[in-house]
This record gives sequence, structure tokens and C-alpha cells, in this order.
Amino acid sequence: MEIAKVLSDKYIGKKVEIRGWIYRIREQKNKTFIIVRDSTEIIQCVSEKPVKDASMEASIIIKGKIRKDKRAPTGYEIDVEKAEIVGTAQRFPITRDQSVEFLLDVRHLWLRSRKLTAVMKVKETILAAFREWFAKQDFHEVTPPIIVSGSCEGGSTLFSFKYFDKTAYLSQSAQLYLESLIFSLEKVYSLTPSFRAEKSRTRRHIAEYWHLEGEMAWCDNEGNMKIQEELVSYVVKRVVEKNKKELEFLKRDISILKGVKPPFKRYTYDEVIEILQKKGVKIKWGEDLGADEEREFTKNLKKPVFVINYPRDMKAFYMKVNPDNPKTVLCSDMLSPEGYGELIGASQREDSEKLLKENMKMFGLKQKDYEWYLDLRRFGSVPHSGFGLGIERMVMWICGLDHIRDATTYPRTINRNYP
Ligand code: 4AD
Ligand code: MG
Repeated sequence: MEIAKVLSDKYIGKKVEIRGWIYRIREQKNKTFIIVRDSTEIIQCVSEKPVKDASMEASIIIKGKIRKDKRAPTGYEIDVEKAEIVGTAQRFPITRDQSVEFLLDVRHLWLRSRKLTAVMKVKETILAAFREWFAKQDFHEVTPPIIVSGSCEGGSTLFSFKYFDKTAYLSQSAQLYLESLIFSLEKVYSLTPSFRAEKSRTRRHIAEYWHLEGEMAWCDNEGNMKIQEELVSYVVKRVVEKNKKELEFLKRDISILKGVKPPFKRYTYDEVIEILQKKGVKIKWGEDLGADEEREFTKNLKKPVFVINYPRDMKAFYMKVNPDNPKTVLCSDMLSPEGYGELIGASQREDSEKLLKENMKMFGLKQKDYEWYLDLRRFGSVPHSGFGLGIERMVMWICGLDHIRDATTYPRTINRNYP
């Protein structure tokens, strides 16, 4: 039986069988105390006899009777009648207070930790909740390519590789392909891996991440933000409903998450620069908001916010110029609160062929590489907008993690792709 199920008054005095891995083991007087974990919970088991070959992380099947015990870690204990080691374990290399690098070297073993298990369960809820929301809103899920021929978010972070006798790239964003799909499906989304050859080592960048992207026909920048705030609020609500246990284990302040509801406040980039300057941050109009600036701006917030209308040359070629101030574009970044910063990048797209060509020239892109994309403006162009959300960024914020590496199973960074 699953351990979570046997932790119930219903089973007191009854015989159960559980199986899992030895989480902790200690001998005391004539007794052996074994804490067993499975995918659902942990339970303390007490054996009057020594259990042969029992050691940390060995796999084990235990039969015995359930007893309530306030002192036990999860409130119940099993009096062991039979204990069978299924797979023995060598001396487990992970003990307390080990370096981050060592834990990354043995990531395949560290993934058994209760912390990473809790995070993975939250991530699973997040992924499912995104799909639930999109299905309710009649979005279509699509599967864009990962092997691509050009850049979406600038050439400097592209991974290239030999593709038969040509060079190809790993996708940074499905956006351009999603744009092509709105002409038949109107509202689409995809969940794909995205790749960024980020040379900077930060707490919030990994080279491979999961990217949730939406693209909507007949939608302007404001409509785009409405969709994002509804979506993000729904997902946070689902995690609070489904993962209370995990959030408590991670010591996350759930009351903050409960307050995440639309609308999210909108600030223009100009306003943010002014606010930051007043706080004494050295930043000028035209400079990008990096992790430090975003942290400063969001550290006392409890709900995400939007920063809209960034300077044009700081953003991407596909963004529509702001008619009220052509130095800026119709875009929004959603920043997570509590210092976490950028969660979503979004914009209204340039839908005129002529203006898009001008943008491409300004950004130094070759028209011949993007003929197919220009075609989308030549055959029934419509106003449209979309967004991209980094799943691990969302996990980081919701779980209250201080580094993105624990928001994924095997984080890929500039100096690590093993194990
Ligand atoms: O802001 P970005 O670069 O926007 C795009 O890629 C758009 N084409 C998306 C779209 O409109 N369809 O990336 C979107 C999000 C960021 O806000 C961030 O959450 C995440 O992707 N992200 C990363 N997450 C982890 N590690 C990295 N190196 C990331 N780079 C971006
Ligand atoms: Mg961005």
C-alpha cells in the first residue's frame, strides 16, 4: 500500500504491507528504527530484530501492524513483522552539508531528496493546470519544431549544430511557428523545451528550459495581458489547492500565493526607470532591466506586475511599434513578486509586411531567412499577440526557491551536462 494511505486511524491495529526506500535508520537498545519513504510519504517502522542488509537507500518491503504514535515523524508507526531488503545499498554518498557542485555531480541520487520530490510534484501540478486553463478557454495545443533554421530572440544565445550538410539551431522560442498556426486555429499554445546558450551564470538562467507559449489572433497587447494574468492566477490557485503539503514542506508562505488574483498592476518602462532612480538605482532610460533591477523593483511586491512599453531597440524585431511613442514597443514583461522578476515576455506582433521589413533591417536580419515569416503578413494578416512563460521560473517563484537549478531535474548550464 502507499504510505500516505496507511497514515490513517482506519488502519490502526491492522496489518499492512508497504514498500519503498530506507530514508533514515538507527539502532537503539534492542530495536531498529527504519524510516521508509515512497513516492507519497514517509513512515517510521520499528523492528525488534536487526534487519539484515538494511542501510540508507536500500529498497525494502515491510509487513506489520499500524500504531498511532505522536512521536513518530508522520504520526503513525509500523511494528515490523517481516522486513525484506529487495536491493541493497552501498554507502550512500549524500550526507548533510555537501557542496552544490557535489550534489549536482550526484544529481541522479539527489533527486530522491524530499525537497526535490516536493518541487517535482508542484511542477507537475503547474503543467497540468496550464493545460486545464487553456482547454477551458478553447485554445488549441500544437507541437512546433525544435530544430529550426533561424533565430527568434537574437543570434547570440543560439545553439547551432550540424544538420546533415547544413547548420541548424535549437529553438529559443516557438513563437514564429505559433504565429503561423493562428491563421487556422486562432488561439494556440505549445509547451516545448527551449534552448539558450546563456554565457552568464545567474540564479535564473539555464541552457535548457520548458517554455509555455501562447499566440492569439485578433488580440492586442492589453488583451494579451488579460489572458496572462488569468492564466497565472489560475495556476497558482491550483497549486495552493493541490500541493499544500509540498508547499509547507518547502516552507513557502502560502498566504502570499493565495492573494495572487487579477488584475496585476501595469507600469510603463518609463515609470519603472523613474521609481528605480528614486530608490538610488543607477539606471538610465534605454538600459535593460536585469535581474538586480527587477529584484529591487519587485522585492516588496506580493503579486506579479506587468512592465509595458520597453524601448524598441532593447526588444525583438517582431514587436509592434507603439503608435503613441515610436521609441517604444507594445510589449509587456510579467515580473514575479518577492524579488523573483521576469516570468513572461510578451508583445503584440508587427502585422504589417512593410513595417516588419523595416524592423528586420534595423535589427540586422536577412530578409531571405524570414521569407516564410513575412508571408504570414502577405496572406490575410491580422492583429495578433502572444507570450512566453518560463516554466522553471514559475516553479522557482511558487516554491520559493533561491536558484533555478532545483526547478528542474537535470539543470543544464554553461559547465554542466552530466549526468
Ligand atoms: O522573454 P523571452 O526571451 O521571450 C520569448 O522567447 C518570446 N518569443 C516568447 C513569446 O512571445 N512567445 O523568453 C520568455 C520567457 C522568459 O520570460 C523567461 O521566463 C523564460 O522564457 N526564459 C528562461 N528561463 C530559464 N532560463 C533561461 N535561460 C531563460 N530564457 C528565457
Ligand atoms: Mg524576456
